[in-house]
Amino acid sequence: MKHLSIVLALSVAYVRAQELNQTIVGCVELECPPSSVDSANDDCTVAGSSFPSVGLTSIPTENRDLKGKVSWTKGFNITDGPDNSRTFHSAFYLGTSSDLDLGDTGACAVLLHGVEAALSFDKVDTNKDTAQGTCSDAMGSDCVAALLDRAKKLLDSFGNDTPSSEEACAMLQDDLDKNMDNACLSISKGSWTNLTSAVLSGNGAPQPLSGDKNSSSTCWPVLPKENQLTLVSEYQTNGSRQADEAQAAMYAITPILTLFFPTGNQSIVAEADASLSCLKVVGPSRASLDTMNDGSQDPNSGVSKIFSSHSVFFSVIVAGVAAAWLA
Ligand SMILES: *[C@@H]1O[C@H](CO)[C@@H](O)[C@H](O)[C@H]1NC(C)=O
Ligand SMILES: *[C@@H]1O[C@H](CO)[C@@H](O)[C@H](O)[C@H]1NC(C)=O
Ligand SMILES: *[C@@H]1O[C@H](CO)[C@@H](O)[C@H](O)[C@H]1NC(C)=O
Ligand SMILES: *[C@@H]1O[C@H](CO)[C@@H](O)[C@H](O)[C@H]1NC(C)=O
Ligand SMILES: *[C@@H]1O[C@H](CO)[C@@H](O)[C@H](O)[C@H]1NC(C)=O
Ligand SMILES: *[C@@H]1O[C@H](CO)[C@@H](O)[C@H](O)[C@H]1NC(C)=O
Repeated sequence: MKHLSIVLALSVAYVRAQELNQTIVGCVELECPPSSVDSANDDCTVAGSSFPSVGLTSIPTENRDLKGKVSWTKGFNITDGPDNSRTFHSAFYLGTSSDLDLGDTGACAVLLHGVEAALSFDKVDTNKDTAQGTCSDAMGSDCVAALLDRAKKLLDSFGNDTPSSEEACAMLQDDLDKNMDNACLSISKGSWTNLTSAVLSGNGAPQPLSGDKNSSSTCWPVLPKENQLTLVSEYQTNGSRQADEAQAAMYAITPILTLFFPTGNQSIVAEADASLSCLKVVGPSRASLDTMNDGSQDPNSGVSKIFSSHSVFFSVIVAGVAAAWLA
């Protein structure tokens, strides 16, 4: 009996800790449904919010009780405003496995908005649509190490005077705002502009989307699908209807610092655990793959050929996004 339960526990752990096949995955892996408006785009509608593009990444914690159980999802869409203006919306969802109990664990996220222009995954892939990678790729490992170190030191400075998630979040955001690490100067140009923070556990934390939200959503952008999703933060910027602005906004990389720390004796973590995720939406759209695969009579015109014609692919995507939001 004992052996059986160990085997079961291991197989459950294996299923829960499902590995993504690349650092950030998009609609292909998340199986977004196609848009009803045009054939090139997907439509991932979560609790009433519709996103043609999404990206999902596991939080890269080393803690074995958290690893594979926590993730971030970003959804992106565009709405048209008056006078040739547009608003670019990003929404951030925390994904958690249902057995994760943060009751005795403080948790907080700081989203480093405003440095997007300095970040890219060009070192990994120069195709902005499919590009993905880690924060070391996007911002350099020195900057990553400096930010994580700052977060851990801040938590240590509380000593035995355990802060709430709300307190820790406010302090961390303030500390990052005021103390720019030299290692990050090249991406921050000397200051962060739009840091926001979000409490992830305890008082003030948003609640996971309920089961009926799930059943009314066409899309549940998390893996494995049994995981819960919590809308944690939304962010918007305004721009014009120029295609290059839409591209820059759509493929923007958002660094998210996630912090877990003990607040009680049943905590998942024994000490502060900080990790940095660099999240963007990742193509291709699932619908475009289907369309292109179906439409190809030529045996040589496979997916790889389509990927090599970057500019064509981009204009299809951007025109498709525009069409979806102009209709
Ligand atoms: C990842 O998995 C998806 C399907 O789940 C597949 O279409 C895609 O090609 C895989 N990517 C890599 C890099 O293996
Ligand atoms: C676009 O995304 C935002 C999330 O920030 C959401 O509130 C809004 O409903 C979405 N737009 C549409 C048309 O679904
Ligand atoms: C963006 O535009 C919307 C409507 O067009 C407006 O309500 C909002 O205040 C603007 N936001 C910023 C940050 O300028
Ligand atoms: C920062 O946020 C404000 C308000 O939302 C917005 O108007 C501005 O464009 C943002 N700045 C950057 C660099 O994204
Ligand atoms: C959400 O719905 C999907 C698809 O029906 C299902 O597989 C998954 O278990 C559900 N997840 C939650 C947390 O309810
Ligand atoms: C955990 O802490 C609670 C009070 O915060 C205490 O009553 C309980 O005995 C502690 N349990 C252990 C195993 O230390």
